[in-house]
Amino acid sequence: MLTTERLIIRPIEKLDYEDICEYGSDEETGQYMLHWPKSREQVDKFIDNCINKMILDALTWHEYVMQLKDELKVIGNITLEIRESVAEIGWISNRKYWNNGYMSEAVSAIIEHAFNNLGVKRIFATCNEKNVASYKVMEKCNMVKIKTENDHKSYRHGEPVTFNRLIYCIGR
Ligand SMILES: CC(C)(COP(=O)(O)OP(=O)(O)OC[C@H]1O[C@@H](n2cnc3c(N)ncnc32)[C@H](O)[C@@H]1OP(=O)(O)O)[C@@H](O)C(=O)NCCC(=O)NCCS
Repeated sequence: MLTTERLIIRPIEKLDYEDICEYGSDEETGQYMLHWPKSREQVDKFIDNCINKMILDALTWHEYVMQLKDELKVIGNITLEIRESVAEIGWISNRKYWNNGYMSEAVSAIIEHAFNNLGVKRIFATCNEKNVASYKVMEKCNMVKIKTENDHKSYRHGEPVTFNRLIYCIGR
């Protein structure tokens, strides 16, 4: 478990279900997400899947939630996937709490933890170039833009999508 000034950051648990459903189903929140559970059933499966992956491959998979210290409400998720000493990080949070610095606070703490305790040497994050809030989080966490991939092709909920993708990195 990690703590910051305002947050507790810990691995996801079954009990987080209702709080995650609150933002999982929100269309605006999910507009730039390529994979995210939308329905209540999908959130349930997502949590089970995360817990299983963290048990079976604990060195690779880290699905964190950020929880307000005061209310203990879960207001966002951060995924850290580590392969060798290179990690990819991604995030989503509850729209009611946007633009208060919460995600930057959580991601900064996880980056420090990854470098200091998880053997990570480099961390990458990517987003759609239209997703200003997401690349602002990267910049506030001292990540540096290393590439813009124009017309990047991917799939969103099974449908092909094309977008300009920004790639940010931080190393130590
Ligand atoms: C990305 C996300 C997690 C950010 O969470 P957050 O808690 O609001 O992040 P922070 O408050 O730490 O930082 C956001 C920064 O972006 C800025 N920002 C947000 N929208 C902006 C916009 N349209 N133009 C300029 N700046 C903007 C905020 O002002 C803030 O910067 P500041 O603290 O310097 O003022 C949240 O917006 C989210 O869940 N988005 C939907 C899911 C998503 O897209 N995830 C990423 C997929 S790659």
